[in-house]
Amino acid sequence: MIYLDNAATSFPKPEPVLRGMDAFVRTSAANPGRSGHRRAVEAEAMIDATRLLLARLFGCPRPERVVFTLNATDALNMAIKGILRPGDHVITSVLEHNSISRPLNQMEKEGSITLTRLPADASHLIDPDEVARAFTPKTRLVAVTHASNVTGTIQPVAAIGRIARERDALLLADASQSAGIVPIDVEKDAIDLLAFTGHKALLGPTGTGGLVVGERAVIAPWREGGTGGDSSSPVQPSEFPHRLEGGTPNVFGIAGLREGVKILLERGVVSILSHEREMLAVFYNALKEPGRYSWYGADRVIAEKRGEGRVGLVGVNLPGFAPAETAAILDEQFDIAVRAGLHCAPYAHKHLGTFPQGTVRLSVGLLTTADEMREAAAAFDEVAASAPSHA
Ligand SMILES: Cc1ncc(COP(=O)(O)O)c(C=O)c1O
Repeated sequence: MIYLDNAATSFPKPEPVLRGMDAFVRTSAANPGRSGHRRAVEAEAMIDATRLLLARLFGCPRPERVVFTLNATDALNMAIKGILRPGDHVITSVLEHNSISRPLNQMEKEGSITLTRLPADASHLIDPDEVARAFTPKTRLVAVTHASNVTGTIQPVAAIGRIARERDALLLADASQSAGIVPIDVEKDAIDLLAFTGHKALLGPTGTGGLVVGERAVIAPWREGGTGGDSSSPVQPSEFPHRLEGGTPNVFGIAGLREGVKILLERGVVSILSHEREMLAVFYNALKEPGRYSWYGADRVIAEKRGEGRVGLVGVNLPGFAPAETAAILDEQFDIAVRAGLHCAPYAHKHLGTFPQGTVRLSVGLLTTADEMREAAAAFDEVAASAPSHA
C-alpha cells in the first residue's frame, strides 16, 4: 500500500512509537496521579516527561501549561468554550476545519457570540491587515488555522498574534497540520492558545492531543472531574495542568506520543518540512503532463518555489473524474490511500471553488519515500489517461 493520507492520521507509526506503547502497556499500566504506588508514580512521570518534550517542541516556558486532550477537536473546544463569554466577538477565517467552525457557528446561532469569518486571498492566505480591520471593541478571540488541511498553506500566525496582542485579544492557533512539520514557538509567534493533535505529524496514536495555554489566557475548565490529587476540593483545582485535565488520561497513547516527539526533536522539524516538500516535488515532476490536472495554485509553488509556504499536502483534481471516484480507483486498482471530498472544511472548499465535491488530497509524511511518490504519479497518469473513454 502507498499511504498518502498523513493529514488524516500518520501511518505507519515509527517502530519506537509502537514499542513505547507496548512496553508501557506491559509494564507500568497504572493510573497516573491516582494512587501512591510505584507504578502510578511511574505513569505520572512518563506523562510529565512527555509534557516537557512537547513544551520544548513548542517553545513553551511552562510545561505544566501543556494540557493533554483527546485530539485537536477536544483542545479547540476546550479553548473556545473555556475562553468565550456571552457578548464576545470572534474573528475566524474561511480556511477553518469544522472543529473550529462548528463550535463557533453554534455559539453564534445561540446568540452568545458574534462572528466575523474572513476570506482568504488568492494565495490561500489570511491577510493580517484584514484581521486588524475586523476588530471590534468586543473582540476577545482570533481563531485561525496555522496550516490549512485543504490548501496546505501556512498562515502568518505571528503577525496575526501581534495584532491580537496590541488589541488585548487572544490568538488561538489550530496546529493540527503544522505541529511536528512547521517550527512553532508560542512565545515568538504570539500564540496564546495552541491546539495540536498527537496522531498526525507528531507520530503518536489516535486519542492524543493537547492545548498549550499561554499566561494571558484566562480559561475556565470545559471538563471537570477527577484529577488525582486534592480530592477534597469541591470544584476543579485552579493549577495547571489539573485545571483542564479532568478524568484519566490516555496513558498508553501518551507513551507512544512521547516516542514520536523524541523522534521529531532528534531529527529536527525543519528537516521534516523539507522532506515533505521534496516528496511533493518528486510527485509533481514525475507526472507526464501535470498541466492536465487542477492544482488550485499549488503547482506553481511546488514546481517553482520548492513548496515554500506550504506543508506536505496538496489538493488536486483529475478532469473527467469526481474526486471520490478518483480516490476509489486509486484505492481499489492501485492500493493508494488518499482522501477525497471536503476534508471537514466546507468554507475552504467554497473559497477554492471546489464545493461540494471537494478535491483529492495527497498528504505525505516522515516515512513517505520518493519511490512511492513516483509510483503514485504513474497511477495518477494512468487514471487520467482513461478519462476520454470515461462515460
Ligand atoms: C486543520 C485541522 N483542525 C482540526 C482537526 C481535527 O483533528 P482531530 O482529529 O485530532 O480532532 C484536523 C484533522 O483532520 C485538521 O486537519
